[in-house]
This record gives sequence, structure tokens and C-alpha cells, in this order.
Amino acid sequence: MRVLGIESSCDETGVALYDTEKGLLSHALFSQIEMHAEYGGVVPELASRDHIRKTLPLIDEVLAQAKLSRDEIDAVAYTAGPGLAGALLVGAAIGRSIAWALDKPALAVNHMEGHLLSPLLEEPAPAFPFISLLVSGGHTLLVDVKAVGEYEVLGESVDDAVGEAFDKTAKLLGMPYPGGPYLAAKAEQGTPDRYEFPRPMTNRPGLDFSFSGLKTFAMNTWLDSEQSEQDKADIALAFQTAVVDTLAIKCKRALKHTGHSRLVVAGGVSANKALREKLDAMPGVEVYYPRQQFCSDNGAMIAFAGAVRQQALTMLERPVFSVRPRWPLNELTPP
Ligand code: KG4
Ligand code: ZN
Repeated sequence: MRVLGIESSCDETGVALYDTEKGLLSHALFSQIEMHAEYGGVVPELASRDHIRKTLPLIDEVLAQAKLSRDEIDAVAYTAGPGLAGALLVGAAIGRSIAWALDKPALAVNHMEGHLLSPLLEEPAPAFPFISLLVSGGHTLLVDVKAVGEYEVLGESVDDAVGEAFDKTAKLLGMPYPGGPYLAAKAEQGTPDRYEFPRPMTNRPGLDFSFSGLKTFAMNTWLDSEQSEQDKADIALAFQTAVVDTLAIKCKRALKHTGHSRLVVAGGVSANKALREKLDAMPGVEVYYPRQQFCSDNGAMIAFAGAVRQQALTMLERPVFSVRPRWPLNELTPP
């Protein structure tokens, strides 16, 4: 079965073709980052309009890459939430319409399930059960994954998501949007141990996170400094180290709590080198990640999640749909 996947929940248009026998056939991505950078963040209406422009050409591109025609698509998967309502509606409208025109099933995919399953596209793929750490611009989640669709959210951020905290801290240090990768690069020139930032919510039980205080801590440290390039690098390093330590402490706690020995990390921040080094060094734990280009939003994870749920691809032949800007993982059931 060949599944066309469409991702349009935020500021990336991602399209891919996944074959349940042959694996990933092709994928293409257009990032709107340059357009939004001018405004210092994602402008939802501009995002929707750009998805309208890019989705169909990207679909033609993945079909050409895979040397397939439209009628060789067996099912269409699209992101139905969580995300920006208007942006989601573009992918949903196009996905549903194509499925209807081709007389093939369509499937509404949960974006966070897409991230969560994305490391299964790699070799070796993690076996179930595992703990999943989902770290993106919009979410910070620790999930006990027993099987596809059996998700128990163990912890989440009570305020800023990790990626959001990276981006806000980078912004106050004068870096472009989205600042996560810039802050990580700057941290490489930082002086270890010059500043000590707190590890929020680690000295009490539980698996929730809070990152907004770290951003304020970074701001106060920056305002108290000479504001030199070295100060910037030292603050970037102290911030990143505190985030990475905090995530590692909570992962260890979640693994201990469930007795699992596998940890799967996904979402934009899973590209962070310091985070990977820290988690890889945890004794007795096997850690799995998506390849770098699939850490952030992409169509491959949506095509794959759709394929994994193929048994459920039966209902809905008509192009009737809705999207869910909020869609908790807890509400999913096995296919
Ligand atoms: O998963 P993603 O592409 O989009 C969402 O669904 O949010 O994640 C984007 C987030 C941004 O906040 C970005 O700054 C962050 O991931 N990010 C990083 C790195 N690469 C991307 N944060 C820290 N270090 C990185 N290397
Ligand atoms: Zn995402």
C-alpha cells in the first residue's frame, strides 16, 4: 500500500510517499521560516496562504521522484491536528479532496503521533514498549508508549515548550527566528560552568516541566552582564545545559517509573547535539531518534503514521472533514 502524507500544521509544508512494503519512496519539504522570520514568529494567515501555494506542487514533486502517477496512490494521510486551524484546513481540504477524487481512503493523522512514530522509519527501529520524549516548538511531552495508539502522557510542560523556550531565549540574546539552532551553535563557544542556571521542577516528584523561568533567568543574567559576544555564548551554554539536564533527569525518572529500557526522542529539539550526547550517555538505556531532517515537521512522519494506521483507513469516502487545533495524544486509540 502506498500512502501519500501531507503535513501543514504550522510553518512547514511537507509531503511524502510511503510504501508499506518498500518503505519511504520520496519526500519533499518547503519551509516558510524565511517568510515568518521578518515578523519574529509564525503569522498564521501567511502560513495558511503559503500552504495553499506549495502543497500541490510538492505532491507532483514526490510523485515524480518516485516515478508514480496519481492513481498509484492507495491512501492519503494528512495532519488533522494539533496545529494552526487555518494551516490544518489547507492540508485537510487537499488531502480529503484528492482521496475523494481517486476514490481512495483518507486518514486524519495526529501530528504528535507523527513525531512519536518517526524514529520507526529508521534502522534499527525501536521495539514497543518505550518512553517517548517529544520536544518541539509547541510541545514538551513524556509519553509511555505501549503500542501504536496506546499512549499515556506521563508529563508535559506547564508553560513554555522546550523549543519555545529556546526560541524566546535566543530572541532576547538578539538571534533570528527560530533561534533554537542559533542558540545551540553559539553555546559551542561558551565557557563551561561560568553561569549556573536552575533545573526547574527536578527537586520535587513528578514528570511535568516548566521552562519559562529559565528564559527569565537568562534575561536577567544577560542584563547584568557586559553583553559581549562571550557573555552571549556563556549564557547560551548555561541555558542549554540546564534544559538538557532537566530533560535527562525527567527521562531517567520516567524510565525508572515504567521499567522500560528504550527511549525514543523526536520533535525539532531532538536535533540538538548536546541533548543527544547527554541522553546517549545514560547507562542501560537504548536511545532512538529520527534522522536529522525528520526531527522537525515533515511529510514522511505523516505518511508513515497513516500507513501504520492503514487498517483503520476504511471509513469516510466523502470529502467531509474537520480539524482539531487541540488534540491530546491521550485520546488516541489503537488502529
Ligand atoms: O517539531 P518542530 O519542527 O515544529 C513544531 O512542531 O513545533 O520544532 C521546531 C522547534 C523550534 O522551536 C526550534 O528552535 C527547535 O525546534 N530546534 C532546536 C534545534 N533545532 C530546532 N532547538 C534546539 N537545538 C536545535 N539544534
Ligand atoms: Zn512538530
